[in-house]
Amino acid sequence: MGSGVLALHEIKDWNLEAIESIAPYLISRPNAQASQSAGRRPVRIEHRTLTRALVACEHSEMPPPLTYASYLDLEKLLTLQKPRSSPPEHDETLFIIIHQTYELWFKQLLHEFEKIKRDFSAGDLFGAIHAFKRVRTIMKVLVAQVDILETMTPSSFSSFRDRLETASGFQSVQFREIEFSLGYKRASTVNYLKSDFPGYDRLNQLLHERSVVDHFYDFLETREAQIPAELKNRDVTQPNGPDERVQKEILRLYKDSPECSILFELMTDFDEGLQEWRYRHIKLVERTIGAKKGTGGSPGVPFLKESLFRSIFHDLWAIRHEM
Ligand code: HEM
Repeated sequence: MGSGVLALHEIKDWNLEAIESIAPYLISRPNAQASQSAGRRPVRIEHRTLTRALVACEHSEMPPPLTYASYLDLEKLLTLQKPRSSPPEHDETLFIIIHQTYELWFKQLLHEFEKIKRDFSAGDLFGAIHAFKRVRTIMKVLVAQVDILETMTPSSFSSFRDRLETASGFQSVQFREIEFSLGYKRASTVNYLKSDFPGYDRLNQLLHERSVVDHFYDFLETREAQIPAELKNRDVTQPNGPDERVQKEILRLYKDSPECSILFELMTDFDEGLQEWRYRHIKLVERTIGAKKGTGGSPGVPFLKESLFRSIFHDLWAIRHEM
């Protein structure tokens, strides 16, 4: 690079948005050599010009330029890990970060489910395929993350477990939202929460909304499937269940419509992934606390086993032997 001229990637801590935010200052200077072309070609700015623009920017009323840290609100994010053990137990940081990352991925899953519902009702096959590819991949990451927590030994967990008091994954509202959004509704889990519990309103709303499976019926209808009226008008606060009439229609589409079968297989992958997560979580619990009760008050492993093989897309599983 010639003397005094910087390529954009050489300007440390300044991204394209930051440079754009000082653009008015660059343009107002006759000597400015800022050229920004479309695409990924490097932007060249004279060092002198940039410094002047930065100084002008600093003394102006303009909001500070966006940076990596401010866009991601990193200062806040990185202070959200607050171990409770004293003296600090090394593994508690891992325990907190793992749970926080799960919750972030849960948030993303819920975001994708809303899109999937819209895609289904609009009969948008490729939109739904795309979204299911994504949620399936997220599910794989969620399953793989268990490996990291399994590097924590039972004695290491015991060293700070008391500090969790009655806090438990059982209280993860987003996990229940995932179940509700997909169609595994259990009103009793809402009744268990107090109405001022954070997330209560969202969960209650999802209980009364149509699930991914209900929207899947819409999609099937766009492919000339006959969906029984009682399924279309069903009480949406109840869990979705299997239905032989729907299974017949899916079987027909498996045979006649290869593009639909791609979607059905992705949905099955996702469903299997969720069950895989339940299995890995149970084994994690078993190897870490054995026969101890959960901090949430449940019997622990036996309680978790109750939902181990619970599927979401019942109709997709029910027809495998007929293909
Ligand atoms: C050492 C690690 C872990 C242990 C010992 C553990 C233990 C347990 C136990 C015993 C339960 C049953 C409820 C109770 O009585 O507390 C439970 C439920 C749950 N845990 Fe964990 N857990 C661990 C890690 C995780 C992680 C990393 C997540 C990720 C978010 C998680 C999410 C959940 C969820 C969502 C439930 C409710 C499951 C359901 O109701 O079907 N747990 N956990």
